[in-house]
Amino acid sequence: MSEIKSLSNTLPLADWNGVQMPLSEVKVSVLDRSFLFGDAIYEVLRIYRGRPFLVDQHFNRLRESLRHVRIETDLERLRARMQALLSATNVQNGVVYMQITRGEGPRTHHFPYKPTRPNELIYVTELREDPYAVYRTSGAKVITVPDIRWKRCDIKSVNLLANCLAAQQAVDSGCQEAIFYNEREIITEGAHTSVFGVVDGQILTAPLDDNILPGITRSLVVDLARDCGIPVTEHAIRLAHLEHLDEMFITGTTAEILPVVEVDGEPIASGKPGPITLQLAEAYQKRTRA
Ligand code: PDD
Repeated sequence: MSEIKSLSNTLPLADWNGVQMPLSEVKVSVLDRSFLFGDAIYEVLRIYRGRPFLVDQHFNRLRESLRHVRIETDLERLRARMQALLSATNVQNGVVYMQITRGEGPRTHHFPYKPTRPNELIYVTELREDPYAVYRTSGAKVITVPDIRWKRCDIKSVNLLANCLAAQQAVDSGCQEAIFYNEREIITEGAHTSVFGVVDGQILTAPLDDNILPGITRSLVVDLARDCGIPVTEHAIRLAHLEHLDEMFITGTTAEILPVVEVDGEPIASGKPGPITLQLAEAYQKRTRA
C-alpha cells in the first residue's frame, strides 16, 4: 500500500464555537458557507511533547488568510480555546485542526446582507504512529501534475478540490505526493507540501508569491539550512531541471521533511535520500524536541 495512513488514530475532542465536545457530536448547518461554497479558512499545527509547535507563525498566517477573505474573528479567543482543548486532551504527539467559516446564511454568492457569525472549529487528534515514518528512510515517490488551482494559493482556504484530485492521482500511481507545475512548466508546490531541490550543495525553493502557500515548515527549513551554513536560494525549479537535481525533498506540518527519491518513475540522482535532506531532517527533529 502506498497511500499515507489516516492521521486519526483516536476519537478526537473538539471545540465548536467555544464548547468542548467529541468531534462526532459537532453539528453544522448545510447552509454554512463552508459547506456550500468552501468559504472558510483553516490551519493545521503539530503538537510535540504536549505543546503546539510554531504557534505564532500559524496564527499569523491564519490572520493573513482571514484578512484576505474578509472573515472577522477574535484570534486571541481562538488561541485560548485551542490551549484549553490541548489541556483537556493532554495529547502529547498530535495534530490540531482549526477551521473558521464565514458562517450560515441564505445561499447567495455575495456575503449575506445580514452579517453572518463565523463558525469556529478546533479539534485535536493524537498521532500514535507517524504515518510518514517509513518514507523518511526509504524516501517518497511523487508525480507531477498541472497546477489547475486558482491564483491565490497563498490563502489557506478549504477550497482544496484540485489538491485532493492531485493527491488521489498520486495514490493511484503508487506515490505519496503530487507536485504541481504551472503553464510555464515551473514547479509551484505539492498538493499538501512545499517543494525543495538541492544542486551543488545549494538549496532551491520557489519564492513566496500568490502561487504557493507560505509554508510554516518551509520557513523553518530555510532558517535551519542557513544555521547549518547551507545556502538557500528562493528560485523556482523547472520541470526540465528535475533530472539535474542532486536531492529533492518536500516539507509540511504533518509530513515534516520527506526525502523524494523518484519523480514520475524516474530516480532523483542515485534514487536515495540525500545527505543535505537528512541533515535538515535531523536538525528539524532536534528543534521539535527542544
Ligand atoms: N498542508 N502547500 C500546501 C498546498 C499545503 O496544503 C501545505 C500544508 C503546505 C505546507 O505548509 P506547512 O508547512 O505550513 O504545513 C504547502 C496542511 C498540512 C494540510 O492541508 O493538511
